[in-house]
Amino acid sequence: MRPADQADVWWRNAIVYSLDVETFQDSNGDGIGDFRGLTSRIDHLARLGVTCLWLMPFYPTPNRDDGYDIADYYAVDPRLGTLGDFVEMMRTARSRGIRVIADLVVNHTSDQHPWFLESASSRDNPKRDWYVWRDEPPQDGPQGVIFPDQEDSLWRHDERTGAHYLHRFYRHQPDLNITNPEVRDEIARVMGFWMELGLSGFRVDAVPYLIETAGTHDGHLVEDPHAYLRALSSFMTRRKGDAIMLGEVNLPYEGLMPFFGDGGDELDLSFDFPGMQAMYLSLARQDAGPMRQALSARPSPPRDTRWATFVRNHDELTLDQLTASQRDEVFAAFGPEPEHQIFDRGLRRRLPSMLGGDQDRIRMVYSLLFSLPGTPVLYYGEEIGMVENLEVPGRWSVRTPMQWEPGAGGGFTTADQDGAERAMPARPYGPDHISVADQREDPQSLMTYIARLAALRRETPHFGWGSIEWLACDEPSVLAHHAVVDGDSVVAVHHLGDAPVEVTLPVAGLEPGTLLRDLLAEGPGMPEPVEVAHDRTITLTLGRYGACWLR
Ligand code: GLC
Ligand code: CA
Repeated sequence: MRPADQADVWWRNAIVYSLDVETFQDSNGDGIGDFRGLTSRIDHLARLGVTCLWLMPFYPTPNRDDGYDIADYYAVDPRLGTLGDFVEMMRTARSRGIRVIADLVVNHTSDQHPWFLESASSRDNPKRDWYVWRDEPPQDGPQGVIFPDQEDSLWRHDERTGAHYLHRFYRHQPDLNITNPEVRDEIARVMGFWMELGLSGFRVDAVPYLIETAGTHDGHLVEDPHAYLRALSSFMTRRKGDAIMLGEVNLPYEGLMPFFGDGGDELDLSFDFPGMQAMYLSLARQDAGPMRQALSARPSPPRDTRWATFVRNHDELTLDQLTASQRDEVFAAFGPEPEHQIFDRGLRRRLPSMLGGDQDRIRMVYSLLFSLPGTPVLYYGEEIGMVENLEVPGRWSVRTPMQWEPGAGGGFTTADQDGAERAMPARPYGPDHISVADQREDPQSLMTYIARLAALRRETPHFGWGSIEWLACDEPSVLAHHAVVDGDSVVAVHHLGDAPVEVTLPVAGLEPGTLLRDLLAEGPGMPEPVEVAHDRTITLTLGRYGACWLR
């Protein structure tokens, strides 16, 4: 694979890191993270090996859904800084070789957005048709409430004009009418604006709902909704050739595939929700079966498109694609208490606490993340093993401030933390025990391990570019895959069980006598290389939750 080609399709080899400016670093002591704070922490991301930053919404917002309720698409929320601060951050990131993408939340706006205030003001307002209004909720409209704890309908009666508006999410998030050409033009203008300021693309929020047309034109499909995604994508690449759309599409694979379009003319990356959910089932059972099954059945994304793989994100750990009994298994293993659970379908926890703080097991999971075919996406704090604070309500439990150093404000802020809305977790998981400062110079720390995985991942193009074969294995707890690029092999082996095992794996593509060494164990005390036997198998011993990348 030519390095120049790798650079062109940069998202295939990227290490993505997502964060909310609000919880990353406060620079002025008001207790709210801001762009100046983020700028001062770009070197942490560079050191970690991050190549692409995904910023969660930072636009002006009443903040009733953590910024996913936008009141102005062309500005920075004043609590987070100014456009000038944003540009300084962009410039700093670029100087460290880090691209930036941001959330594009255009399925809906805040009900405080001036567009909606106009639209709601009268039936003949020029912006009336920017949202989806009906006298009565239609029978043939979209179905399925997303936040059943708070909403029981997708339609909300609005007194101003005595009509109902569509809201896929919370009632304060009215859906834009994307079948309206004026709305489409405006969305393109928003994308163009931020690309001019340097963004390399977007994480597109709630994609299936965005292009849903049921209920928007009396239930009649006005056109192929995918044509709209294609139009967005081609607009974007006309403006900036290497910009990407990373889509949030939580559907089974067969429903997901159409969103890639014909090889990148719709989404360039799509989160692998089914694979992620299968991984948690596998972890809960200590059985690689569900993952192997999901990943071998997982279709290959067309041409230059990729799966985006992840362990956790800012939302609840959604398990909605598992069966009820499978979900119960994961709940029993990783979130048995009602306070761990949310919406009957997910867990409001981060990984380390779900795994009981087991370092071997946590590291094995990240080794998996970085070796699976797909582009790894980290959620801030994962690099140091941050956990949730269950005292913080709802989905905010996993959105507590970044823990930079010991002390009350954790290096995040100098503001008084008593009564903070999103307090950091208490000991033994608070900043006095888990922080960047504590881990950055420690060769044994999780942070050092993750930085090493990121570096190795980038030096090992096999996982990002190679052809992948899932290897048969008699040991149910072991997942093994063989990645080949330009005739060169890496075999990744992960053991999901808590007792050591010996396994024999068929490596048909390798010549007998070939010596494989473990990239993860390089350095002093490195184990002996593994030799491919005459029958083209390798035999190795794996410790509890063991992982190796054999090259
Ligand atoms: C996405 C976001 C979630 C938000 C929702 C509504 O699912 O990940 O946090 O609440 O969209 O915008
Ligand atoms: Ca601040």
